[in-house]
Amino acid sequence: MRKSNSELSETIICRCEEIREKEIIEAVHLGLKTLDEVKKATRAGMGLCQGKICTKLVERIMAREGKISPQDLIPPSFRPPVRPLPLGEFREHPKVFSNSGHKKGGKK
Ligand code: FES
Repeated sequence: MRKSNSELSETIICRCEEIREKEIIEAVHLGLKTLDEVKKATRAGMGLCQGKICTKLVERIMAREGKISPQDLIPPSFRPPVRPLPLGEFREHPKVFSNSGHKKGGKK
């Protein structure tokens, strides 16, 4: 049995930011046309998965609500994942900083 629209809209699309389907639908109906616009407006895709899980769901909702094909949506911009590194990592790989303007070996 298919859920009604009101039941569907309470479905959580982005678990880490707790963004519900109704928020994506509202963003589309407000005139947001790209995945990046919806991401910035709702925060869907800004959590831990960085869009790996939720972007496809957001795409499907946007396509359905905008009555377009998911292939017609402009692909979202992605940034490489950032993670903290221990300072020792930098000492072990000094070439990483060879273009930073700092002299090898630090201050003298
Ligand atoms: S599920 Fe939250 S960023 Fe993807």
